[in-house]
Formats: sequence, structure tokens, C-alpha cells
Amino acid sequence: MSQTDASNGPTAAVGKTPQQDDASRVLIFDTTLRDGEQSPGISLNRHEKLEIAHQLARLGVDVIEAGFPITSPGDFESVQAIAREVEGPVICGLARTSKQDIEAAWNAVRDSERPRIHTFIATSDIHIERKLQTTREDVKGQVRAAVAQARGYTEDVEFSPEDGSRSDVQYMAEVIQIALDEGASTINVPDTVGYTMPREYMAMFEELYRLIPALHDVVVSVHCHDDLGLAVANSLAGVEAGARQVECAINGIGERAGNASLEEIAMLLHTRQPSLGLWTGIVTTEIARTSRLVSRLTGYQVQPNKAIVGRNAFAHEAGIHQDGVLKERTTYEIMDATTVGLRSNSIVLGKHSGRHALSEALREMGFELDGQALNTAFKRFKEIADRKKQVTAMDLEALVTDELREEIPGYALDWFEVDASSLRPPHARVSVTLPDGGTATGSFTGDGPIDAVFQAINVASGVAAKLSEFTISAVTEGQDALGEVSIVVEIGGLTGAGQGVSTDIIDAAARAYVRALSVAVARSHADGAIGLPETI
Ligand code: KIV
Ligand code: ZN
Repeated sequence: MSQTDASNGPTAAVGKTPQQDDASRVLIFDTTLRDGEQSPGISLNRHEKLEIAHQLARLGVDVIEAGFPITSPGDFESVQAIAREVEGPVICGLARTSKQDIEAAWNAVRDSERPRIHTFIATSDIHIERKLQTTREDVKGQVRAAVAQARGYTEDVEFSPEDGSRSDVQYMAEVIQIALDEGASTINVPDTVGYTMPREYMAMFEELYRLIPALHDVVVSVHCHDDLGLAVANSLAGVEAGARQVECAINGIGERAGNASLEEIAMLLHTRQPSLGLWTGIVTTEIARTSRLVSRLTGYQVQPNKAIVGRNAFAHEAGIHQDGVLKERTTYEIMDATTVGLRSNSIVLGKHSGRHALSEALREMGFELDGQALNTAFKRFKEIADRKKQVTAMDLEALVTDELREEIPGYALDWFEVDASSLRPPHARVSVTLPDGGTATGSFTGDGPIDAVFQAINVASGVAAKLSEFTISAVTEGQDALGEVSIVVEIGGLTGAGQGVSTDIIDAAARAYVRALSVAVARSHADGAIGLPETI
């Protein structure tokens, strides 16, 4: 048995189509934009969702669950935009079993080359009796009608018995049989509340295969939540029992404690390929970048010791470990950092680099910028290159993802000045461009320089935003590193997240604050939101 990653294994394959007749191929169904987006405090706008979806396609996921179209016009439009623009993966929309849900999901995904409708209803008695307040028989009828309706639109229909792991397996098998009779092509059995244990989850699938022979002819899927920290272990147990689709999310985001983390599943199957004999289509070298993008846009920081994508996942602190790795990397490393796209900081630009060099570097990184976007990028690049000796790929990535995204309509920071001293309270003045194109200035004496700037922005914009989260980190190492600030603000119960990047942390914070404020204001103007069902 090899004890290191199978770096040249089949997971390195780019652009392979899912081969469902290949019994060793595990499909990766990414739900970052649906279950992940249901995490508390996360609220991505359409541009951000599109950006993540394009990156997921580069990462090589098989299915993107792009959202839950019935829940709001904004969600519908985002799913539709992804279905229209993102090529490669299947684009899936979630729906309860009601006619309107399924119709909305279909209308949102129908323009994709490969649309899927994913419909679900709970099969556990506690959910049926208490949440749905109905009967087992009624649930069966709803499944029959929903899958039949969805099949009228597309051949690619997924059905999930929600809270499957706590359902009576005999009854759940009858429900699944109905979904299969109506033509469902994927059956996903979730551990909705993160309660199951690997051996139980495995036994449940073995029993389902025994009770429903036709399950062997469709794709069986796992969807595990991490309430007891077992989401990845349970997913693996399901795969070992025969499932060939794993539902997971980047950085493990999702309801409550989150979903199984995509990067952990992908690298588990990759690294232990010789033992498991399974493979995915994930382009592993895109993992780190996808993780950083999702972290930036959601404002959810990745814990330093997080497997695969944490800052310390490949760091060695103890002298004995460092000594061992210097002598032979595999003494303490089971994976190579470059396999997941870490430490690939080869692009370096300096202050004399021109527009062409910048554009080439960005293209090499997968960002196609021209016209005004390239001009803005070049201007920001020059500002940073004046203050920083070398601008690396990581710096450019932070700059492009945070600064050059399609502008959120709303407020923009023109300039700020702060008088800060340990002798008297700091005072800030700012100028902000307003949504109507006018400008306004504001000033404030705050508790600290950053607080003074935020309060001055509130004064200038006339918006009473409250800071609810603030995180700061360095993009790279070294004293002249770019600082990256992520902020969540709250206005009347609605939140907005924003990021800013600069060599000056007050500048980064001010940029992030104005963006977050713009997002929260835009959200409070949006209408027609329909509440999500409570239990998913
Ligand atoms: O956790 C869950 O049960 C879900 C379903 C919608 C698949 O997210
Ligand atoms: Zn879920």
C-alpha cells in the first residue's frame, strides 16, 4: 500500500465526463451554492454565485446545485444565470414536492445544457408528523406526483428522502421505489441532522440495496451533515456501501455545522486511491484557490488547522518533524501541498511590469480581463506595486476576487483621512459616492481609527449600519504583505458581507465596509423573499 498521495492518479484528469458505467467513478455534487449558502450570515449576490460556479466548473465538479429557486426571485435569477453561463457540470435546482417548487426549479435550470431537478420530502416519522403534519401515505403520493412532474421536464431527476438516516428503512424503501417507478435517475439518502455513525449509514445503504434491487441501476448518493464531526466519515461509509455520488460543499459550509467538505472527500479518495480503487473528476490543483474564493466571498474564514485547505495543513512546527521532512518529505507528509494548489506562487510582477504582463499573468490564472476591468485592475495593481516589492499570484488573486468584481451598485469609497494618536481619540473624515452619483462627506471621532472610519462612512452615507463581524488576515507572508479584511454589517436585521484588500489595513477595512454596506442596503431594497422551510 502506498502511503502518500496518488499524484499521478486519475483524479488529475481534466474535463473527463462522468462515466456512470465506470463503477469506480465517484461523482462530486457540489452544494456550496445551496446548502452552503444556507449557513447563517452567508448571503451571496448573483455575481458572486456566478463567480463561484465558474470556479467550481474549473475544479471539475460533476454537478452544481446552484440554489433553491422558489425561495426568492434573487435565488431564481442566480440559478438561471448559472444555468445559462456555466458550461460543463450538470446544473441542478432544488425543489420541495409542490407543483410550484418543481416548476420554478425547472424554469431556473432549463437553459442549461445539462439541467437537473432535485426534489425532496422528509420520510422520518418525526418530520412527517411534526413538521409536515401529514401521513406516510400522503408523502408517498407527493413523491409520485413530484417525480412524475419533474420527469415531464427532464430525464435528470434526483430524489431525496429528507432525514433518511432517521427514517424507518422499510418505509423509506417503499418511497424510493415510487421515485424509481416514476423515473428518478439519482437517489440521495441524506443524514440531514448529522446523527448517524459510519457503520449505521453503511448498514442502511446495504439494506436499501437489498430491499430495492432497482437501486443498482441508478446513481445512489450520500449527503451528510457534520453535527458530530462525522460528515466525511459517513460519506465514505456510504461510498463503500456502493454510493457513487457525494454531496458536499467547499470548506464544509452548510446548515448548522455544515456539510461534508468537498476538499476532504476529494483528497481522501485521491490519496487513498490505491486502497479504495475509486476516483473523481476533481482537478485537485484548483482546490486551494476554490477554497480561498469561497472563503472570501462568504466571509467564512477557514480555521488554520482545517484538513487540506487550512493555513497549517502542510506546516511543520516541531523540530523533529521539520528535520524529517527535510530529509524525506513523506516521513510526515501524506500529500504534496502542490497537489491541492498550495504554494503555487510562481507568478511574480514588480512595479515596472506593464499592462500586458498583468493581463498575461491574470490569464494564466484563469481571469480574462479586458477593457475597463483591465484598466481598473492595472490601476489597483500599480498602487499596490508602488508599496510592495513583489506582487505574487496570491496577491493578484486577492485583488481580482475582491476589488474587481462587477461593482455592487451602491456606495463607493472616494477617500478617507484619519488622525490617530495614543494621546486623543482618533478622528476620521471620509468621502463616499452615493448610489445617485452624488458625493457626501462625513466625519466621526471613534474608539479606534477603524471604528472612526466606519462611523464616518455611516454619517456620509446616512445609513446606520452595525458591524457584526470583522476579520483581518495577511494574503502572503512578509512585512509588506497585503492585508485582507472581511466584514459583515447588519442593517435592520439584514446582513451584507464585503471584502477589501490593501497594503494599508485601514484602507482595506474601509473598502470592505462600504461594500458590505452596499450589499445590505441592496438586500433591504429587494422584495418578494419567501422564507425557506425551517428544517433544511
Ligand atoms: O440535509 C438535507 O436533507 C438536505 C436535502 C435537501 C437533501 O439538504
Ligand atoms: Zn443538507
